Amino acid sequence: MSTSLGQMVPLRTVHCGDALPWLRAGGVRTGAAMVTSLPDISELGRSESDWRAWFTEAVACVVRATPPTSVAMFFQSDVRHEDRWIDKGALVVAAGAEVDAHVVFHRIVCRFEPGRAVRGRPTYTHLIALSRALRSRAGDGMPDVITEPGRAVWPRAMGIKAAAQAVRFARDEAGVHTIIDPFCGAGTVLAVANALGLHAEGVDLSARCCTRARALSIEPGELDDSAAFNAPARDAGSCRRTAGDPR
Ligand SMILES: C[S@@+](CC[C@H](N)C(=O)[O-])C[C@H]1O[C@@H](n2cnc3c(N)ncnc32)[C@H](O)[C@@H]1O
Repeated sequence: MSTSLGQMVPLRTVHCGDALPWLRAGGVRTGAAMVTSLPDISELGRSESDWRAWFTEAVACVVRATPPTSVAMFFQSDVRHEDRWIDKGALVVAAGAEVDAHVVFHRIVCRFEPGRAVRGRPTYTHLIALSRALRSRAGDGMPDVITEPGRAVWPRAMGIKAAAQAVRFARDEAGVHTIIDPFCGAGTVLAVANALGLHAEGVDLSARCCTRARALSIEPGELDDSAAFNAPARDAGSCRRTAGDPR
């Protein structure tokens, strides 16, 4: 199944606010898939138990707002917290199971070339697709290990090529016309969706992120899979909260 908007100009809408009430209030988003990346514990300023409860509820809200035959995809990097490992892949899968969503696929996105030893965040990101009714076909064209994630527009962003793989899966396997990212950050997913001919809708708490997400433009050439590994993203355009940021 493949859906594109033909000659129509793909739209982009960005809402500035808290994604959870926005998701709860809007019901099931017909014709849409979710591609998102929930904030890390370091971004929310909560205790670990509060953050885990919030994360679980956020996954549930995303899944409930996704049509049963569509897909909700999560890019999440594990993190060490107080010398213990938080496995966000396990958290996403468990939270999905609470709302009757199964795992359509679980892929790995390399942030650096495999084999590099690092002290900080792991060198890979989980890319997990959940659905309440969509089953995965064998041979959907996406690699299990995505070794060329593409440019990241800020350090917490997903790579452009990896985002494109997720958006193409939603378009071709779930037949959606709109991609929603309820934690859109600088707008990578939204810009990729538009570049692939789909409407895009995003939410972010940070006014600075929303401004960036409305403006981000991605050239079609950045979506292909031919480029080599990227250097780690520079923080030049971070939309993390800064003094005076109205959020
Ligand atoms: C991991 S970043 C997303 C990065 C994004 N995928 C990109 O490529 O730029 C998580 C984002 O969630 C936002 N955020 C945190 N809490 C939120 C909330 N309750 N509602 C909406 N956005 C929130 C943060 O401002 C941050 O931009």
